[in-house]
Amino acid sequence: NDLQKYVDALPQMAKIRGYGIWHGLPVPIKLTIGMYNKTWKFHRDMPPTPVFVYGQSLETATFPGPTIVARQHVPLDIKWENHLPDAHILPWDPKVDTAIPKHGGVPTVVHLHGGAHPPEYDGSAFAWFTRDFRDRGPAWTRTTYRYPNVQAPGNLWYHDHALGLTRVSLLAGLLAAYVIEKPEIETPMNLPCGPHDLYLVIADRKFYTNGSIYIEKEWQPEYFGEVITVNGKAWPFVAVQRRRYRLRILNASNARYFNITLSNGLPFNVIGSDSSYLSKPVNVTNLVLSPAEIFDVIVDFSLSSTTDIEMLNSARYPFPSGSQTPDPNLDGKVMKFVITPNGKLDDDMPDNSEVPENGVSYAGVTSVPPPVVVRNITMYEYFAPNNATKTTHLYINGLQLTDPVTETPKSGTTEIWQVINLTGDNHPLHIHLGTLQAVKMQELSDVQTFTDCMVKLNDTAKCNFDQHANGITMTVPEEEKTWKNVVKIPPGAVTTVVVAFLLVETNQPYPFDATTEPGFVYHCHILDHEDNAMIRPLKLLR
Ligand code: C2O
Ligand code: CU
Repeated sequence: NDLQKYVDALPQMAKIRGYGIWHGLPVPIKLTIGMYNKTWKFHRDMPPTPVFVYGQSLETATFPGPTIVARQHVPLDIKWENHLPDAHILPWDPKVDTAIPKHGGVPTVVHLHGGAHPPEYDGSAFAWFTRDFRDRGPAWTRTTYRYPNVQAPGNLWYHDHALGLTRVSLLAGLLAAYVIEKPEIETPMNLPCGPHDLYLVIADRKFYTNGSIYIEKEWQPEYFGEVITVNGKAWPFVAVQRRRYRLRILNASNARYFNITLSNGLPFNVIGSDSSYLSKPVNVTNLVLSPAEIFDVIVDFSLSSTTDIEMLNSARYPFPSGSQTPDPNLDGKVMKFVITPNGKLDDDMPDNSEVPENGVSYAGVTSVPPPVVVRNITMYEYFAPNNATKTTHLYINGLQLTDPVTETPKSGTTEIWQVINLTGDNHPLHIHLGTLQAVKMQELSDVQTFTDCMVKLNDTAKCNFDQHANGITMTVPEEEKTWKNVVKIPPGAVTTVVVAFLLVETNQPYPFDATTEPGFVYHCHILDHEDNAMIRPLKLLR
């Protein structure tokens, strides 16, 4: 791969306002966003690549799709339309449980990642639909979803969630940013804004020489590509001035973790994470982003000692201790910031922004009601004994999505999840409708004995979990101490996670069958894991 780095300028995706203005006040509106098949130029010297992308029209659809800017407490209706062809542009593996429409077409369903909304708008894996709603999955509910935007202001994203196709359809481009704003909180913070507020959606890809996206036909445990794209361009550059910039960094990769630094040591002032601001900015020189993780940071380029600043990546893969390290000339590079000649500020735009001294007071775990339930959630690899074709599955609690629901949280309550990771890798845990924070991480002793027992008995009590949860404690990074959508679960350890389930209207019937009724899920956000059974239903009680 000899693509020249830093020849394409970093695009900013179109911003769509998710509310109307009536007599100066924000009011609800309805948007229509479609999914389109077109080609996209990932690099000046690469042939155009067939993609599936979101947009308000075929012409304006982009990789990633348009950024939706919503307002807290102003509901937004979105009609999601599927304009995709009869067949997927990427191969998928029928040995993995997959949405199969009767009449061909590409099953899709949109999930607002981090959104708090009733289950019928969540985008269940079984609520898929094909072009013109010709075929619909068993849990399909309606053509238009309503997002109430009731949770804390912060950074979210939207992406496809169809059964068994999530990894391929995101790879094809069905992903985009979504933000909930609350000016009462944000205006006083005086953050860099307008052209100094950049979204960076990072995704690794592998390409054939003809430009099309490469993915193996057979399901693989993790997808990694050596080409790093930001906002749909391979290793782009962006011109900046000597001033503060806000960067909203989303890792939209299928499986790759990033450990990012700036080449001249400039720090990131972290002001927020996936769905919420921090209570205080945290100054760091590196950031580890799992798939689906977001950091909202301020970088002050006026302090830069150089005019060229590369964003670099050093995360081994699979993370954290996989056998592969990024190549310093390929996946070890992300993008470049170039300070414009002399870095002069526009005269009419002095840098009056600041790194706020304080963030938000609701970031802490004590801002929610005390926990009512403690659950043990165990992640391990499972080798199906009598099905030679489906060799490995990654399961949660030894169960798959279609097994009966075991987690039944009550809307508006808080729970403690002890997430036990018996695999060799880190897994990003994502819980729909929940906002979560890790409060403690402790290594397990005698992991092999415990794992063997769990694979056999699948019972933490019988396998004496308490006696294994006695290793050293690891610290939760300061920049992750806020309400998040995704928490990194380290291997060989138990991570104590506080999960606050937001309050939403639900009429969910009892008993509940996740395969035919709309509902929530929780899963690993390594998409290859999510598609091959590292996902479980959640039944929300009133
Ligand atoms: Cu970002 Cu269930 O997904
Ligand atoms: Cu995983």
